[in-house]
Amino acid sequence: MPAVVIVGAQWGDEGKGKATDLLGSRVDYVVKFNGGNNAGHTVVIGDEKYALHLLPSGILSPGCVPVIGNGVVIDLDVLFQEIDGLNARGIDTSQLLVSANAHVIADYNRTLDKVNERFLGSRKIGTTGRGIGPTYADKMNRLGIRIQDLFDEKILRAKVEGALDLKNQILTKIYNRRAVSADEIVETLLGHVERLRPMVADTTLVLEQALKADKTVLLEAGQATLLDVDHGTYPFVTSSSATTGGACTGSGIPPTRVTRVIGIVKAYATRVGEGPFPTELFDEDGERLRTNGGEFGTTTGRPRRCGWYDAPVARYAARINGVTDFVLTKLDVLTGWDQIPVCVAYDVDGERVDEMPMTQTGFHHAKPIYEYFPGWHEDISAAREFSDLPANAQAYVRAVEAISGARISTVGVGPDREQTIVLHDLL
Ligand code: IMP
Repeated sequence: MPAVVIVGAQWGDEGKGKATDLLGSRVDYVVKFNGGNNAGHTVVIGDEKYALHLLPSGILSPGCVPVIGNGVVIDLDVLFQEIDGLNARGIDTSQLLVSANAHVIADYNRTLDKVNERFLGSRKIGTTGRGIGPTYADKMNRLGIRIQDLFDEKILRAKVEGALDLKNQILTKIYNRRAVSADEIVETLLGHVERLRPMVADTTLVLEQALKADKTVLLEAGQATLLDVDHGTYPFVTSSSATTGGACTGSGIPPTRVTRVIGIVKAYATRVGEGPFPTELFDEDGERLRTNGGEFGTTTGRPRRCGWYDAPVARYAARINGVTDFVLTKLDVLTGWDQIPVCVAYDVDGERVDEMPMTQTGFHHAKPIYEYFPGWHEDISAAREFSDLPANAQAYVRAVEAISGARISTVGVGPDREQTIVLHDLL
């Protein structure tokens, strides 16, 4: 049975949460495989709105086992706050599994994330300030603290002291901050152990057994292709692998098991934080997209940068991830324009470039080449069949599909679960 991957095809906030949630009732496991509480999924069910940061969206689907994979970095305070918040609203979280190999975001990494950004000044990344980057850096430096370390106090203490050896020098001598006490860090982490213990599992084994037993496993990416540490607009990226390859590494599910890759792509584009964004709008069209689309960060509340649909970016995401199906989200936000520009290629220093430029300099210089499609003014939020859409909206979807590198299987026309048009089944 299949392992299905869901990835963001742009710079994040494409609406992955809703897509995962839509499939949630039909899958047995939903695995978060990268990132941490830098993510922000908003899921709307009826009158209820849920903002998830760390927990996989599958947590909202009864019968679905939510899994936090080894590729994730976990802020334990946030984990338990999110669980408590959901429990208070009657959502059962008792099925949640957490990989013993996932890394823990220690308090000093949150501090370092913020001071690093300040230190970078105009070269800042615009991180979410949640300690994500420093925790992944520790992982690669082999200085990280893993969930399993919390079950061995001696090891935990040795690792925290090892990590703080250098960090305290940096904090005190370079950043002029107070040194961090290893005892305090260890005590805080140990305080979570009893609550954590029943959730912790060898999740790679659990997932292999699930696939062998013909269960369906959904692998849900945090962030998105253009924020991937390898394939994104480096250095303006997150610190993890947010693409299909990362789904395998971050969960332990081998590539040969992945049968479908669903790319989530918004009918326009947004980005938070710094970094190049060729179709970005600085005029009232951008403001209108932001207001109509509610484009403010779920995690940080920051206003998102907004721009028109960028087809070379979608094609790039299709290529890097092996996208089999696109979910086109928030089409309703484009209602009310007489014509809608779509970026079909770039002008890079006077030359037409049809694909993502090879170099970051090229991407910084890329100016969008637009094609213009006739808009529509009818309210489309009640459309449930493709034929319910006005002719111009149908033509827009078909035109975008033709240049984006994979078929569009679902179209979103509003935030609610029901506000969805299915063209091809996703499972
Ligand atoms: P970090 O992930 O906090 O290190 O931030 C690195 C970059 O990724 C910044 O530009 C963030 O704004 C961006 N980023 C991180 N998570 C998300 C997300 O879930 N949606 C959109 N952008 C994100």
